[in-house]
Amino acid sequence: MALRHPMGPEETQKDFSVSPIFGIEGSTIPRHQMPEREMEPRVAYQVIHDELMLDGNARLNLATFVTTWMEPEGQLLMAQCFDKNMIDKDEYPQTAEIEMRCVNMLGRLWNAPDAAEATGCSTTGSSEAAMLGGLALKRRWQKARKAAGKPADKPNLVMGINVQICWEKFANYWDVEMRLVPMEGDRFHMTADEAVKLCDENTIGVVAILGSTFDGSYEPVKEICEALDRLKAESGLDIPVHVDGASGAFVAPFLDPELEWDFRLDRVASINASGHKYGLVYPGVGWVVWRDSGALPEDLIFWVNYLGDNMPTFALNFSRPGAQVVAQYYNFLRLGFEGYRAVHGYSREVAMRLSGEIEKLGPFELITRGDELPVFAFKLKDEVDNYTVFDVSNALRERGWLVPAYTFPANRTDLAALRVVVKRDFSHDLADMLLNDLRAALPRLAKQPEPVHGAEAASGFH
Ligand SMILES: Cc1ncc(COP(=O)(O)O)c(C=O)c1O
Repeated sequence: MALRHPMGPEETQKDFSVSPIFGIEGSTIPRHQMPEREMEPRVAYQVIHDELMLDGNARLNLATFVTTWMEPEGQLLMAQCFDKNMIDKDEYPQTAEIEMRCVNMLGRLWNAPDAAEATGCSTTGSSEAAMLGGLALKRRWQKARKAAGKPADKPNLVMGINVQICWEKFANYWDVEMRLVPMEGDRFHMTADEAVKLCDENTIGVVAILGSTFDGSYEPVKEICEALDRLKAESGLDIPVHVDGASGAFVAPFLDPELEWDFRLDRVASINASGHKYGLVYPGVGWVVWRDSGALPEDLIFWVNYLGDNMPTFALNFSRPGAQVVAQYYNFLRLGFEGYRAVHGYSREVAMRLSGEIEKLGPFELITRGDELPVFAFKLKDEVDNYTVFDVSNALRERGWLVPAYTFPANRTDLAALRVVVKRDFSHDLADMLLNDLRAALPRLAKQPEPVHGAEAASGFH
């Protein structure tokens, strides 16, 4: 049973041994059973604090896209809002107001034709936002099919096999067939031609990713939309696009303003983004925005009479923290457009210099360079056969760096790579330290007679 604790029954019986200086009777506390009696706050704090030291250092975590550093003022605002429940809009009207201001800002940032018409909400992350975006696509398609007197029981959603697991969840939980464009040769994401080939009258939408979790590359959203325009002209099929901009929707507007991927394209119905990735907030906030109220079927919205107010909600959760939304607004005010551009511009500069230096080391070949998302993937050259990317990942881990190694999906399961996600708190200085540690590990790896770690050591980054 997947959700059960993996330890055997004997292990789960073991108690914590607590230092006698805390003066706890017997000096042990149970590990998997609620203690009989209370204990001093300082003891509970110290026990938990010490255990958490075994977690990796978030600042050295180059696997995650999620924010690992925030300014003290942002943290202070979060601490001041820990007690606010986002759903209590009647009780915390300013937090609700701030959420709507953020949606308006994002509607403008993503070029909604009429920003006042753009509709959206905060979520717990891109996964929930993707569920909501996908549900709107499904409901719109069902309504159109029913209106045309056609069956609406076999919906499918077209996307690249490089999609993040949240889309598999969406398809599984809401009974939608996933139509996946596989990788092929050096093509590591979906292209327009491949997307259109999989579309038919049961396609509720196409999901385009900005950018791909595997290698940080942007999918060609504009070309995908143009190909779908041609499909409409030829066949009458009118298929909307949802952009999964989990990371890129907070990068491209600042660094690639000329790139058309957002509501400038008529076919883009909705966009999701993670406020807790390049939105620069600690984990717990995502956003979904529809180009106008017509793209979000009214019957998905619940009007909740709560604490004396009648408010619209579209969410999978009810209660959830307001602090992250406030922190998002802090970042918007504090950084503004220029600030976000400077922060992400620096990250991209670090990513591109680091990828270039890694390429110069000799054994590695770049898959991407970090010139789209500040994220790059690299592999070992084919002639290196005595160690693997998994060995490299392990060698870096000895120095505290968390650089994931993983295999690509079909049809490139033969390809194993390492990936570096450069975030705000990863400076040129830290990049040099990583580079030095990687350089120092290479002679030892080169002397290794054969690979030690294989794909079984892969990091489940997605
Ligand atoms: C492209 C993409 N979509 C969706 C997600 C899921 O986002 P979240 O962790 O905010 O739920 C991720 C996370 O890495 C992602 O990279």
